[in-house]
Amino acid sequence: MTTDPPLLEATGLTRSFSGQTVLHGVDLRVRDGDFLSVMGPSGSGKSTLLYTISGMDTMSAGAVRFSGQDLAAMSQKELSRLRLTSMGFIFQHVHLLKNLCLLDNVVLPAYLAGLAPRAALNDRALKLMERTGVAELADRDVSEASGGQLQRIGICRALINSPTILFGDEPTGALDSAAATEIMDILAELNADGTTVMLVTHDPRIAARTERVLSMVDGRIVGDRRQGRYDGTRLDQRQTELSQWLMDGEPVGVR
Ligand SMILES: Nc1ncnc2c1ncn2[C@@H]1O[C@H](COP(=O)(O)OP(=O)(O)O)[C@@H](O)[C@H]1O
Ligand SMILES: [Mg+2]
Repeated sequence: MTTDPPLLEATGLTRSFSGQTVLHGVDLRVRDGDFLSVMGPSGSGKSTLLYTISGMDTMSAGAVRFSGQDLAAMSQKELSRLRLTSMGFIFQHVHLLKNLCLLDNVVLPAYLAGLAPRAALNDRALKLMERTGVAELADRDVSEASGGQLQRIGICRALINSPTILFGDEPTGALDSAAATEIMDILAELNADGTTVMLVTHDPRIAARTERVLSMVDGRIVGDRRQGRYDGTRLDQRQTELSQWLMDGEPVGVR
């Protein structure tokens, strides 16, 4: 049991939209180095959780601390800066700029952050693209890459500022299972290298590859399971055990 303060801590996190409460006082701690997924039926509040803990969306009540900083006390400008420099985001569909080549799309967030000279940023972007197997596409256009390749470009772009945490909202949701597996391999490798990874997914095969799974129902976390690191074996068994756990709906204290 570590006594280090968590990387991210939500307390009583509540989000309502015009009278409808979609997050009901969620308590959550994410530790530095966690590899976790959030599962739950459509509409259970998974995306809203991700967006409120990352400061992309505002909370209605409660508190979120990220690296010791109280998000509610930060201005929009400070929040943008925090997201740009410490958080990476990947989504189901990658939004890339069509008038930039793929390398420039990857570099863009770093250019905006202004933390390093352009040549160093290009080098870093190319290294990330090599690592994810898309370096040969560096000077190509968005229209020349496949869905799986675009998602890798999206990951490179999310990593360009070396975030502490990488958030994904259904990042494999639009991919076939082979491409999804490759994306999960990349995410597992990044996590092994120290990046905290938090994914929203409704796919037990994806969640079975993470180390920790939160189960959400109707805006509440009803389960928090640690299933050990995936070592590349027994994925079917992990998936079966996870699905069983989700169905049992056994509430577990959130720690
Ligand atoms: N911007 C919004 N305005 C109004 N209602 C919203 C908004 N975002 C989400 N909701 C509602 O909050 C609930 C949870 O949505 P969401 O977090 O997207 O769920 P999930 O990601 O688990 O499918 C849904 O009922 C959805 O309609
Ligand atoms: Mg969602």
